[in-house]
Amino acid sequence: MAVYEKAKLFYISIGFWLTLGVECFGESNHILTIKPGGSVTIPYHYDEKNPPQKKYWHSYIDQSKTYTNTTEENLSVIDHPDQSLFTVTMRNLQNKHTGHYSCVVETDGKPTATHDLYLQVQSAPDVSVMNSSVSGHEGDNVSVQCFYSSGYKDKLKQWCRYKDKSCYTVGRTDTSQSSSVQISDDGRSFTVLMTGLRLSDSGWYFCSAGEALNTVQLTVTKAEPVSVTTEKEKWRFCLSQN
Ligand SMILES: *[C@@H]1O[C@H](CO)[C@@H](O)[C@H](O)[C@H]1NC(C)=O
Ligand SMILES: *[C@@H]1O[C@H](CO)[C@@H](O)[C@H](O)[C@H]1NC(C)=O
Ligand SMILES: *[C@@H]1O[C@H](CO)[C@@H](O)[C@H](O)[C@H]1NC(C)=O
Ligand SMILES: *[C@@H]1O[C@H](CO)[C@@H](O)[C@H](O)[C@H]1NC(C)=O
Repeated sequence: MAVYEKAKLFYISIGFWLTLGVECFGESNHILTIKPGGSVTIPYHYDEKNPPQKKYWHSYIDQSKTYTNTTEENLSVIDHPDQSLFTVTMRNLQNKHTGHYSCVVETDGKPTATHDLYLQVQSAPDVSVMNSSVSGHEGDNVSVQCFYSSGYKDKLKQWCRYKDKSCYTVGRTDTSQSSSVQISDDGRSFTVLMTGLRLSDSGWYFCSAGEALNTVQLTVTKAEPVSVTTEKEKWRFCLSQN
């Protein structure tokens, strides 16, 4: 990376510390808690009409480190221009990775910080999911179980979609929430049931309790026509039974 860009990022970082200290590290700030050895993918959607020319993943732990289009053993920073999406995957997380991170995008030559995040590596995550990657066919139901630690029992619990920032709130029954999403809470975890999946439901979501969250990727695939081989196998099975 050019020295000039480094300097620019350095100034953004300073600006960050000044502004974030006041606003973003408050209650609305998001904390991701991950088990040692665990991994996480964080999605960032950008404006499809005015896509940024550059996207960086920036670590405040090591000020000199910014990443763009990187595929390493424990880190992948990948742009998906077809989805106006930028994903960061961190693997094999260790205590030393605890800290602030940020996604920086540069549009029309102006770097702007888009999302910041506090990552905490701890043996008992505040919010965790049974399965961070779920999939189903069109029309199916899928459920996602989100566990929260006892300290979060009385916090606001939500299931949100990253792309349009739409959320379903646990315990709220007003009609603004879609009936195709049902959430039940057992005091230790909440389970999100998404019914009648549509292809457009594919994407990145998060479960949150208070400011703690964890991410989930949902993949919806086309309803499969009954496959010929399956039918054939069924017949073979029936025949072999006789
Ligand atoms: C990202 O890196 C890969 C492999 O190094 C390269 O083929 C690809 O063109 C790069 N994409 C961008 C947007 O720089
Ligand atoms: C990836 O993480 C593992 C486990 O902590 C570590 O042993 C390895 O050195 C890391 N790889 C890189 C390239 O940092
Ligand atoms: C996670 O979900 C995928 C796809 O739905 C499934 O294949 C896998 O077995 C699940 N893993 C666990 C641990 O439940
Ligand atoms: C999906 O969930 C709805 C609501 O709970 C239920 O009525 C329906 O039978 C379920 N469908 C499938 C395929 O399990």
